[in-house]
Formats: sequence, C-alpha cells, structure tokens
Amino acid sequence: MTKPAIVVDEVCFQWSPTAPVLQSCSLEVPKGEFWMLLGTNGSGKSTLLRVLAGLLTPQSGQVDVMPPVGFVFQNPDHQLVMPTVGADVAFGLVEEKLSIPQIRQRVDEALTAVNLSHLQRRPIYALSGGQKQRIAIAGAIARHCEVLLLDEPTALLDPDSQLDLVSQVQKLIKHRGMTALWVTHRLDELEYCDGAFLLEQGQVIDRGDPQRLRRRLMQMEGRQEE
Ligand SMILES: Nc1ncnc2c1ncn2[C@@H]1O[C@H](COP(=O)(O)OP(=O)(O)OP(=O)(O)O)[C@@H](O)[C@H]1O
Ligand SMILES: [Mg+2]
Repeated sequence: MTKPAIVVDEVCFQWSPTAPVLQSCSLEVPKGEFWMLLGTNGSGKSTLLRVLAGLLTPQSGQVDVMPPVGFVFQNPDHQLVMPTVGADVAFGLVEEKLSIPQIRQRVDEALTAVNLSHLQRRPIYALSGGQKQRIAIAGAIARHCEVLLLDEPTALLDPDSQLDLVSQVQKLIKHRGMTALWVTHRLDELEYCDGAFLLEQGQVIDRGDPQRLRRRLMQMEGRQEE
C-alpha cells in the first residue's frame, strides 16, 4: 500500500498546561485524496493545520507530511504579498534556484491550472475574493506542492464562488495527484470530498463517509438541514 501523504499520530499540543488543544489526535489522509476536517468552534482545527504545516511544534506525537506543503488561509489578504498576480505566484519560488524562463514556465503552468492565466498582469486589489483564493492555490501549484492545507478557504466567499472553488480544488487534486486537507464549516462542501474527519476537543472522534459525519455534526451543533 502507498504511504499516506498526511499522517498525524497521537499528537498533543497545548498553549499552557491547563489548556490542552490537541489531545492524542490521530489521522491519515491517503495520497491523491481530498479530505475535509469538521468540528465545532474551538475544537482545534486551525491548530492542527498549523502543526501539519510546521508552524507549531507539538509537545508529543508525530506528524509526517509529504513535502512540499502549501497552506491556504481563510483570508487571502493575509497571504498575497506582491502587487500583481504574476509577481505573487513567482514570489513563492524565490528560495528555489530557478532561472527566469523556469520561473515564467512555473507561473504560467500554475495560473493555467486555476484558469486564471489571463489575469497574470492584474493588480491583486482588482481581484474578487474567489480569484484571490485561486491565486493562493496557484502559488502552491507553482511550488509543485504535494500537499495542500486549506483553513476555511471559502469562509469569505459568496455561495457561487464557494462552490466554484471547492469543485476546482477537487479537480486539481484528481488531475495532479495532489493531496488536500480542507477545514470547513460549510457542510454543502462535503459533496466534493473523498472523506472527512470530525474533531472534538482536540481529538478525531469520527472519520469516513462525509454525509454521515455531516449528520453527526449537525446533531452536535443543533443545526437544521441547510
Ligand atoms: N495563540 C493562542 N494562544 C492561546 N490559545 C489559543 C491560541 N490560538 C488558539 N487558541 C485556543 O485553542 C483552541 C483551539 O483553537 P483553534 O483556532 O484551533 O480552533 P478551531 O477549531 O479552528 O475553531 P474555529 O472553528 O473557530 O476556527 C481554542 O480554545 C482557542 O481559544
Ligand atoms: Mg479555525
């Protein structure tokens, strides 16, 4: 069997000894699959993603994520740093010793993958929220990321751009053989994933069929069918 692209094994993380956030948290995402992470507010989803990205170090347990890893934040304005689309996608490549033609080729390829090659010269401020998220994803594709971690990437999008983004990420994962873990509160997105995890008080309490987990989370939150 192929090694999973993401492995979390008994991870514990706390900000202080009285406030544990992740408690013996374990999960695996098979390579080439698109999984979602669900859980009530404060259950530790963003913390887990930050541990996976190497931004936080757990007190105990192991994480193993196939590199390179790309991270997409809830608010693209916290992520896009350059004045134009092309420059922003290229910016992520500065640490790789590439020639100018190689950089151009990586940027073209990545923008084509998210259907935005016509916007290469557009200033970032002139993009919609959904386009900004696709530029953030293009940055990860340009770096040839194996794994994409996305923390509520659709939280600021309207429903149409929301479903466009999730279906586009699903296609990218399948066509490029990437692996993704996507945090969400918007349960209609579960249609697009291969499987889901349910996090509660820093532990994965359920995993598998997205629709079953959707019903379980709605019961936990007392939500009505959306
Ligand atoms: N920098 C920090 N310092 C101290 N505590 C923190 C810090 N960041 C998060 N926490 C606490 O860790 C717990 C988990 O937070 P986290 O952001 O991972 O939850 P979440 O599942 O992403 O929630 P949400 O659905 O609201 O995004 C919360 O109790 C939160 O208050
Ligand atoms: Mg969060």
